[in-house]
Order: sequence, then structure tokens, then C-alpha cells
Amino acid sequence: MGYSLSILLSYFSIIARLTSNGYTGVPFDENYYVTWANNHASVLDQGREVQLSLDQSSGAGFVSKQSYISGFFHMMVKLPDKDSTGVITTFYLNSTSGAHSELDIEFLGGRGGPYVLQTNVYANATGNREQRIHLWFDPLSDFHDYQILWNQHRIVFFVDNIPIRVFKNNIKIGVSYPTNPMQIVGSIWQSDWAAGGGNKINWTQAPFEAHYRGFDIQACNSQQCNNSWWNQDKYWELSPDQLKAYQHVRAKYLYYDYCSDKPRYPNPPPECPSNS
Ligand SMILES: *[C@@H]1O[C@H](CO)[C@@H](O)[C@H](O)[C@H]1NC(C)=O
Ligand SMILES: *[C@@H]1O[C@H](CO)[C@@H](O)[C@H](O)[C@H]1NC(C)=O
Ligand SMILES: *[C@@H]1O[C@H](CO)[C@@H](O)[C@H](O)[C@H]1NC(C)=O
Ligand SMILES: *[C@@H]1O[C@H](CO)[C@@H](O)[C@H](O)[C@H]1NC(C)=O
Repeated sequence: MGYSLSILLSYFSIIARLTSNGYTGVPFDENYYVTWANNHASVLDQGREVQLSLDQSSGAGFVSKQSYISGFFHMMVKLPDKDSTGVITTFYLNSTSGAHSELDIEFLGGRGGPYVLQTNVYANATGNREQRIHLWFDPLSDFHDYQILWNQHRIVFFVDNIPIRVFKNNIKIGVSYPTNPMQIVGSIWQSDWAAGGGNKINWTQAPFEAHYRGFDIQACNSQQCNNSWWNQDKYWELSPDQLKAYQHVRAKYLYYDYCSDKPRYPNPPPECPSNS
């Protein structure tokens, strides 16, 4: 339609570069700690990078020291540079109290591209809201920025500042919305489910190593949050440019959406119409 994604992408990647340059200063230890398998996690580059590795003995994970109730969360991630069938690399938010909430970004490893990014939203202990997109770049060769905006009005998942998923606050039509404190998590683990179709992880390729950068946190955990930039009315809706980019991603890269999975949900869940 004459509308060029490449212009948009270059516009957004400039923003991504500018912002990611600003991110590099904060060392891992300031905001995060390793919770799972210290011997499979290495802090590199004076605290600016963390490597998590998966082998037959263990995966690994880290979490934020604090929990948050809103923010613009992000992590720069470079995926294992291997045949990573059956390997799941994650960046997500997980509730630390109350009925379970989770905002997930999961990379489902595979053999060659295109690579699959799965998102999911749990609120009040209900999930099963998977969406999957193919990434439009090679996430193994470089760091890219994966982001989650969470305020009282909506949750937006982004890749390099391009919106890939919107989950609005639909409490008025009875759809639960995450409001309890959540912790930021990064992890790598093995899953036969993700390998799919009887495929298996190829352990002779181990260790599988995921790299994370960008340990600054723009989020807050008290009522004082109300004046934070991500809670301002500008962030209650996508801008017209973001909306175009979102529609383009949905048209071109979205290949699984629970909302259109008829066998699974003969009647689409109530939140679906307003989020697409
Ligand atoms: C989420 O956090 C809870 C409470 O800290 C913990 O028990 C649970 O294992 C975590 N789940 C995930 C998927 O990280
Ligand atoms: C959360 O789920 C419980 C049990 O299904 C339900 O009783 C409650 O009303 C829900 N709360 C919200 C805020 O949706
Ligand atoms: C597993 O990896 C090894 C080492 O790279 C390779 O030689 C072998 O062909 C792989 N096996 C499968 C089933 O892909
Ligand atoms: C902040 O916003 C919440 C939720 O909208 C509201 O309940 C609370 O009163 C506000 N707090 C302040 C200090 O404005």
C-alpha cells in the first residue's frame, strides 16, 4: 500500500540505538541477582553483560531485586548461536504476591530461522493467551531490545521499540488485568514441548549460551508511580505511527494468535476484539 516498513524500522532502530546507548552504564549487581545455578551464569564486561548457559546438568536464571507495579521494562538479549531446538530463552515479569500474573517474552529455539518469539499474559492466575511472531532479523548475531510497557491502561510488548502485542485493561468487561507487584526475570531452560513434533534438544551442541545487557530499570513500586512517564496519558494509547507498525507486524509476522485458534476457543475470549 505504499507504506514502507523499512522506513519505520530504520526510524525505530535509530531510537533503539539512542536509548540503548543510554542503558549501558548500570551494572547487573545493582538491580539483579542470579537465583538459579550460579555456576551457569557469568557476569561479563564489568557487570554490563550476563551470560546464562544451559547444558545437561542445568539451565540458569536471574531476577530483579525489587518488584514493580508499573514501568517500561526492557532487556537486550542475544540468543544462543547454535541449533537451539528445545532451548527456551526468556525475559518476563512474574508476580511475587497475590493471584499469579505473568507477562512473558519467550524465544523458542529452533533449527535455522525464522526465529519464534512467543508472548503470553497471565492475570489473576489465568493465562493461555499465547501469540507467536517470526522475528524479522537474526536474533543470534546481535543484541536486540525487548520491552514491556505496563501501566493501568495497557500492556504493550515491543521489539526494538516496535509494538508487537497490545493487551488492554478490559476489567470493565470482566477480564482480569495484572495489578500485583512483579519481578523481572531472565532465564534459559530446556523444553521438549518447545522442540515440537518429536524433535529433541541436541546436547552435543551444549552449552547453549544466552547473553543479556541493559540492567537499568525504568519502573516503580509505589503510588508515587503515578507521575512516571510511562503512566502519562500519552502512553495509554499507541501513537498513529506505532499503530501502523503494529498492524504491519500483525499482518506480516504474527503466525499464531490464541484469539483466532477456533478449535481451542470456538468463541474468542472477550479481550480479543479490542487488542487486535
Ligand atoms: C514466580 O514467582 C513465584 C513467587 O516468587 C515463584 O514461586 C514462581 O516459581 C515464579 N514463577 C516463574 C515462572 O518464574
Ligand atoms: C480472580 O479469579 C477468582 C477465581 O476465579 C475470581 O473469584 C475473582 O473474581 C477474580 N478477580 C478478578 C479481579 O478478576
Ligand atoms: C547434533 O549436533 C552435532 C554437532 O554439531 C551434529 O554433528 C549432529 O548432526 C546433530 N544432530 C542432529 C540430530 O541434528
Ligand atoms: C495513583 O493511581 C492509583 C491508581 O489509579 C490511585 O488509586 C492512587 O490514588 C493514585 N495515587 C496518587 C498519589 O495520586
